[in-house]
Amino acid sequence: KKVTAFAPATVANVSCGFDILGFAIDELGDQVTVMRSDSPGLKVTAISGDGGKLPYEAERNTCSVAIQAMLDQLGIAQGMEIILEKGLPLGSGMGSSAASAAAALVAANALLNEPFTKKELVPFAMEAERVACGAAHADNVAPSILGGFVLIRDYQPLDLVKLPVPAGLHCTLLHPHLELNTSDSRSVLRKQISLKDSTIQSGNIAGLISGLFLSDFQLISRSLRDVVAEPSRALLIPGFYELRENIKAIGALGSGISGSGPTIFVLSPDKEIAIMAGKVSEDVFGKIGLGLDVY
Ligand code: HSE
Repeated sequence: KKVTAFAPATVANVSCGFDILGFAIDELGDQVTVMRSDSPGLKVTAISGDGGKLPYEAERNTCSVAIQAMLDQLGIAQGMEIILEKGLPLGSGMGSSAASAAAALVAANALLNEPFTKKELVPFAMEAERVACGAAHADNVAPSILGGFVLIRDYQPLDLVKLPVPAGLHCTLLHPHLELNTSDSRSVLRKQISLKDSTIQSGNIAGLISGLFLSDFQLISRSLRDVVAEPSRALLIPGFYELRENIKAIGALGSGISGSGPTIFVLSPDKEIAIMAGKVSEDVFGKIGLGLDVY
């Protein structure tokens, strides 16, 4: 028996929700196939779509790390073979490592006749994030497993809240051809923020979540602001502020760094503006001489 599962790309942080908010993207993602094996241990037998960059070692691959955490919890030593088909670019800020771990867990859980609910799989995927970037953040893995917008209200104990997705909300992902790994873009963050910034950030996260519940696009738009991570990280993405201005000018709700970057997410109230955002970014990055993929 073998099981194949797909898990989507995700946008973590969503500007004001550093480490506590993320949402899943339709269609784009990674696929993992898992099958039982008679020999003990987890073996990653094939990886495609990664340009040869991802590790096969079970201790370093996010698929096997996540499944191992799950098997440890169950206290069983079932051997498995794992095949990973990457649809997501690495080091892009689109939750690539998370999607692999999420798909692997959903597949392995199905193979074992679903001992865990989807929510219960999230901590196992967080172990994979710890190995991938040094921090067991959940704002990519939780929405990749659960879909939609997910709030991580607390980490200890983990308290996940699924949020509504307003009808008509569109997301465009602009991926300039730079590779940023999450541990590097976490290392540039300030360790302390001022009381004033904490007030601004809290207002915006509360506003953004209210906007999701109220389907109030203008409130969502006003709340897409980040005074915690973005000021340090924007410096790593050439053209970021110019792009933001041009994107606002076409009527998008706003834009920000997707996860740890360099991908920029744009939220739009309709499809036409979402498509236009791609064109605007081609102009900005084209001028700088940076290649770009638009999703
Ligand atoms: N919250 C994480 C960060 C997301 O900003 O480092 C990484 O994708």
